[in-house]
Amino acid sequence: MARISREYLSNYLIYMINIKVLFVCLGNICRSPTAHGVFEHVVAENGLAEVITVDSAGTGDWHLGEAPDPRSVQAAKKRHYDLSPLRARQVTRQDFFQFDYILAMDHNNLADLERIKPGEYQGELNLFLSYGKKSNMEDVPDPYYGLGDGFERVLNLIEQASDGLLNYIVKKHPL
Ligand code: 4NP
Repeated sequence: MARISREYLSNYLIYMINIKVLFVCLGNICRSPTAHGVFEHVVAENGLAEVITVDSAGTGDWHLGEAPDPRSVQAAKKRHYDLSPLRARQVTRQDFFQFDYILAMDHNNLADLERIKPGEYQGELNLFLSYGKKSNMEDVPDPYYGLGDGFERVLNLIEQASDGLLNYIVKKHPL
């Protein structure tokens, strides 16, 4: 019988198992890029960057091609997340054929996504905060027009839900 090295096997598993996660908000300049940067960081810290791919998009088209809101970039930077390379794009029906998890920041985003979801979608379309078990919040509040600590609050909610999401994914797709 052919001997397969451990290294070959682990690379093969990485090649076979690629879980794709898409975060969606309204503008793709505040909440979903924050989730994108934080979750990607948590994934990399846990050695899973080769296995889990992360992206983000908005339901609206006002900010296509723009960098995240400077207030989001600044708040994230203080916690050592770099959002600066990200650029806004709009979610498409095609995303449902690419992503295993499509996670909405609030109920409005979720309703918009439900409207374009192909009937045969096999992945999970859900509210992102449903994976963060410690909070009763269901929506990540939109900080765009707000004052005060809205961006910190977004980060707190997203950090907590990111840990919950990674635990959930690892349990659901055991390597
Ligand atoms: P986001 O915030 O959905 O978290 O990116 C918003 C950004 C821009 C707008 C609304 C929300 N806007 O109306 O331009």
